[in-house]
Amino acid sequence: MGILDKHKHIETHATLLLVLSFLVVTIGGLVQIVPLFYLDNTIEEVEGMRPYTPLELAGREVYLREGCYVCHSQMIRPMRDEIERYGHYSLAAESMYDHPFQWGSKRTGPDLARVGGRYSDAWHVDHFRNPQSVVPESVMPKYPYLEQNRIEGEFIADLMKTHKFVGVPYTDDMIANAQSDFLAQADPDSDYDGLLERYGEASVNVRNFDGQPNVTEADALIAYMQVLGTMVDFSTFEPDASR
Ligand code: HEC
Repeated sequence: MGILDKHKHIETHATLLLVLSFLVVTIGGLVQIVPLFYLDNTIEEVEGMRPYTPLELAGREVYLREGCYVCHSQMIRPMRDEIERYGHYSLAAESMYDHPFQWGSKRTGPDLARVGGRYSDAWHVDHFRNPQSVVPESVMPKYPYLEQNRIEGEFIADLMKTHKFVGVPYTDDMIANAQSDFLAQADPDSDYDGLLERYGEASVNVRNFDGQPNVTEADALIAYMQVLGTMVDFSTFEPDASR
């Protein structure tokens, strides 16, 4: 009896086929699932990653509200053409504080995972006010009201508490100083030492992002744009090959 005949025997006996299929699926399932119980962490920790500052977090809310993710992804795939265009492929750790993550599924516009530092703040102001003024063929909508909508961060501590609840390591100190850190980041004349102490100097930009005296949604959104992809220093980053 050849191996094909044996298979024919299995395929023509429903109960035997069922029992053997069950066995195969069980073994396959165990091999895939059991090792996961022994992992402490599925995300490789990477130096430089920190929670968003209050102003950046507020900007991220604007990003969600406006549905920017409908046209923009934030996930650079490890493929040569993407890396040449957008920079180092995205690391899992880079979205570890994103709830919900903004990987997206559609690129009507470019990927934004590393847009931080690529353009000046003034470019972003012009671009949000009227994208066609800087990129004539752009199909991106205009967002002229962002620079008119004043925000003062009175609810930002609550939002941070919510993020803390789902695992973002905001400290009590960060939450207690949420609103003053929020205002300080958009005002380079303020006392922002506390902000830098809490979030680290490396990737926190303190600037008047929209160039106007008040803090607006444009300030928040641009602060968010300018930090994207800048927390990890890829000139020194080395993937951990032991995992
Ligand atoms: C209808 C689709 C669409 C929506 C919605 C949209 N964009 Fe865009 N975006 C584009 C396109 C297309 C481009 C490329 C042309 C340009 O620069 O305007 C672009 C470019 C950009 C760029 C420049 C990226 C680069 O690397 O050159 C940024 C930053 C940006 N968008 C941010 C946003 C933000 C923030 C929002 C939400 C407030 C948003 N976009 C909403 C389509 C969109």
